[in-house]
Amino acid sequence: TGKFTYDPAFTSTASCESKITYIDGDKGELLYRGYPIEQLAQNSDFMEVSYLLLNGELPTKEQKDKFMHDITYHTMVHEQLNHFFSGFRRDAHPMAIMVGVVGALAAFYHDSTDISDERQRIIASYRMIAKIPTIAAMAYKYSVGQPFSYPRNDLSYAGNFLHMMFSVPCETYKVSPTLERAMDMIFTLHADHEQNASTSTVRLAGSSGANPFACISAGCACLWGPAHGGANEAALKMLEEIGTPDRIPEYIERAKDKNDPFRLMGFGHRVYKNYDPRATVLRKTAHEVLNELNIKNPLFDVARELEKIALEDEYFVEKKLYPNVDFYSGIILSAMGFPTSMFTVLFAVARTVGWVAQWNEMISDPVQRIGRPRQLYTGATRRDYIPMDKR
Ligand code: CMC
Repeated sequence: TGKFTYDPAFTSTASCESKITYIDGDKGELLYRGYPIEQLAQNSDFMEVSYLLLNGELPTKEQKDKFMHDITYHTMVHEQLNHFFSGFRRDAHPMAIMVGVVGALAAFYHDSTDISDERQRIIASYRMIAKIPTIAAMAYKYSVGQPFSYPRNDLSYAGNFLHMMFSVPCETYKVSPTLERAMDMIFTLHADHEQNASTSTVRLAGSSGANPFACISAGCACLWGPAHGGANEAALKMLEEIGTPDRIPEYIERAKDKNDPFRLMGFGHRVYKNYDPRATVLRKTAHEVLNELNIKNPLFDVARELEKIALEDEYFVEKKLYPNVDFYSGIILSAMGFPTSMFTVLFAVARTVGWVAQWNEMISDPVQRIGRPRQLYTGATRRDYIPMDKR
């Protein structure tokens, strides 16, 4: 039309300016506020990374203590919210519960829906980061028919989450340091990824002035899709379906067949045209967790073999398809005891800080206006209404 550019799936449109996360897809580089993800995964922890994403700088000891205090202050949810869960079927997908319950937080925390008040925006951010693990664990507990476990503020963010997921009142639950570390690492690696589909959804929802809880709920809804956060669940299901290394070639051929909709789940990325740096870290973590738990998981062998074969195959090489973050995370999470249906929920727990940081950045941006993509209209030209008896 001359007035705007046609860019389906926004492959070449920058929708905003951002100082939070940088990706160089050709180099396979991911930086949070300038710091390489490998260094953060190795030396930092999720709370420190959350502070960094929200505030732009690594915290001092005092700043981190204060931040942890502010987050843990908000870990409980309103007792009335417990009743929500019993309205769902026990076999409901936990992401369906997340979308509903997260959106409903706006009905409980009215003060935080005033987005013109910077202080309230900060409190809303803390509330979201603090409550999302609680809600996620409640969704799981409800599905298995166990009582909810209240948060424990003496534990780390990851340790508390494992406690809320796996402790039962009749036993003393001790969080394994290796699993706590692995959980924290998974949270760190998933914390932000610039303008991916769910983050763009959060920004677009927020651009209308919608309250933060509604925006994060929209992010959860988008993340649920199998091309996005649902891929970790799909990747593990695929590895289970393949079952043994001898069946890999059959699936590789299917993935290459243009007439077969099958794709290798956990492979390929819109931005990374080189190894996803998060997958490198997670492959190592998968190894450590399986060793620690003394688990011999044949699916890990299938995954490693599949990766090896694909990386040598002309089709995958030419299209620059490499394992992404979701390829190994499922193996770790199932070894830790998470059911497959919880994988995307864990992604949502981790990504909440990224969504919140991006939402805050957008709200404080003076050029921010309501997001309103245009379209290339390809429908009928103007025509006159035809009465029913003439159609
Ligand atoms: N298996 C086989 N072929 C593939 C795959 C795959 N996993 N991914 C892409 N291709 C092919 C695709 O068929 C296309 O071929 P052609 O050019 O001949 O039509 C070419 O590679 C480019 O694919 P595309 O769909 O145009 O690429 P995209 O940037 O739109 O999609 C993607 C990126 C991640 C959705 C896609 O690679 C995919 O569906 N992967 C599997 C799902 C997955 O693992 N998603 C997780 C992404 S990382 C975590 C997250 O973002 O949540």
